[in-house]
Amino acid sequence: MTRIADVYQSDDWKSEKHVPVIEGPSEVAAGEVFDVSVSLGKEVTHPNTTEHHIRWIQLYFKPEGDKFAYQVGNFEFSAHGESTQGADQGPIYTHHAVTVSMKISKPGTLLATAFCNIHGLWENAAPITVT
Ligand code: FE2
Repeated sequence: MTRIADVYQSDDWKSEKHVPVIEGPSEVAAGEVFDVSVSLGKEVTHPNTTEHHIRWIQLYFKPEGDKFAYQVGNFEFSAHGESTQGADQGPIYTHHAVTVSMKISKPGTLLATAFCNIHGLWENAAPITVT
């Protein structure tokens, strides 16, 4: 049986355009609000066209020692040049990048996932400590 973990791909985001890039502090104060950005194609540009684009990014937090991950946010990118004139004739393209504010009380790992409409599911992770 194929499991969902089997179809998530990962790689070095500096050379693979689909890997979500997690940017934020590696250390935060407990209970203090901080920003985390997740984007794709930071070094190698990912297309954003009607035919080929990033549909969504999701961000999770798994506290150290906990069994379960918590969802931080679900970000859908809905506009990719569609219009009545045809593909890539529309006036708007949602860019595949998001910044979210959050706070945590324990150290753990930020887990980002992303979906390309033709290249599937991708993931990345970033540890975060709490002072
Ligand atoms: Fe792609």
